[in-house]
Amino acid sequence: MPFDSVRFPDDVPVLSDGDVRLRPHRLDDVDDLVVQCRDMLTLRWTTIPLGYDAAMGTGFVTEMVPAGWRGGTEHAFAVEAPGPDGRPRYAGTVTLRDEGAARASVGFVAHPAYRGRGVMETALRMLLDHGFQTLGLHTVLWWAAQGNWASRKLVWRTGFTFGGTVRHWLVDRGSYADGWVGTLHRDGAREPQTLWWSLPTLRGERVTARPFDVTDDARVVEGGNDEAVQRWMPSFPSPYERQDAETFRLSTLDAAADGTSFAWALVDSVTDELLGAVGIPHRSDFGAEIGYWLHPDARGHGYARDAVDLLVEHAFTPRDLGGLGALRAYVRIDEDNHASLDVALACGFEVCGRERAGTVRRDGTIAEMLVLDRVNPLVLF
Ligand SMILES: CC(C)(COP(=O)(O)OP(=O)(O)OC[C@H]1O[C@@H](n2cnc3c(N)ncnc32)[C@H](O)[C@@H]1OP(=O)(O)O)[C@@H](O)C(=O)NCCC(=O)NCCS
Repeated sequence: MPFDSVRFPDDVPVLSDGDVRLRPHRLDDVDDLVVQCRDMLTLRWTTIPLGYDAAMGTGFVTEMVPAGWRGGTEHAFAVEAPGPDGRPRYAGTVTLRDEGAARASVGFVAHPAYRGRGVMETALRMLLDHGFQTLGLHTVLWWAAQGNWASRKLVWRTGFTFGGTVRHWLVDRGSYADGWVGTLHRDGAREPQTLWWSLPTLRGERVTARPFDVTDDARVVEGGNDEAVQRWMPSFPSPYERQDAETFRLSTLDAAADGTSFAWALVDSVTDELLGAVGIPHRSDFGAEIGYWLHPDARGHGYARDAVDLLVEHAFTPRDLGGLGALRAYVRIDEDNHASLDVALACGFEVCGRERAGTVRRDGTIAEMLVLDRVNPLVLF
């Protein structure tokens, strides 16, 4: 059942919170609307038509938006906030689309001049109040193209639970894109439900761990095909192709946002050339597993030791200071991988156990894994 029919603009509610107002769209919004709809970020992350002009803006304000209110299919509000001269101006659009059975999907676009100011968060909160309190909604759904972090952060702030990535679902200018989805239930707290994990750049004197970049792919492929990497990392594809490097790189930000796994490009602090990769393939509330590999031409300089030191420091740094707050860091190493064992021992790890049948090597043989760990000095007293 759609929302009730509403006379436009007479019966459209005007909602306000401080300087930010939600109100019906007006013809004098069109100029700002056109700027917003020609903006690169808007075009990248929404399906708003290309070549947006005043005629399209006028059609939106005088036909599409009123039709949504009258037909009960969509409640779109203009967001209004003070401009540079302090006078209220069009700052974006937020909308709820009827999805039947007391469910709606949310949509929002901010005018470029109003991003990063908290205006959209206030606007979204008012829209959600309208949805849950006035429309009696049960659940609000959020969709975004995968990679739209600004959108994801905004809904995270207002309490949405991230539901995952849906492959090949969103229609994006002629192709089917992967989409992120999330929901907010009417009884849900309107505050973050999880920590916002991220991939900070960890700078050391000689090496730096930073998020992967497309320019790293070529050296990741070289390293991934190296004989030692292939031998000791049996889960790596063989051969390691360019596509594998890209898939891995794209997965790293999503994995980090879940807070379960982190991977960084290990680069030379001066030249930014890729030396290898370091990561925390598993993080729990207590432990952080550390992993590493080096490009063959970066071996023999102690870079892996520097990298592990950086990661351990990050793992042991309390969460309120930007670290992972782990009580314990550990590595799992094939018992015959002496180069890797040397790195861990040099970084102060001690053997604490042996996993029987801990790994299946690339040739199919089953081997034992040594586990070495270090305990966070902050919990040793
Ligand atoms: C989505 C949108 C409305 C959010 O507006 P906003 O809340 O004012 O916020 P911002 O654009 O400044 O970004 C929000 C947060 O995301 C972060 N962010 C932006 N891009 C990011 C990225 N690539 N990686 C990580 N974080 C990112 C910002 O740093 C900001 O975080 P902070 O507030 O902690 O500093 C606005 O970015 C927009 O209009 N985008 C284009 C249209 C769009 O994407 N609509 C949503 C479709 S689902």
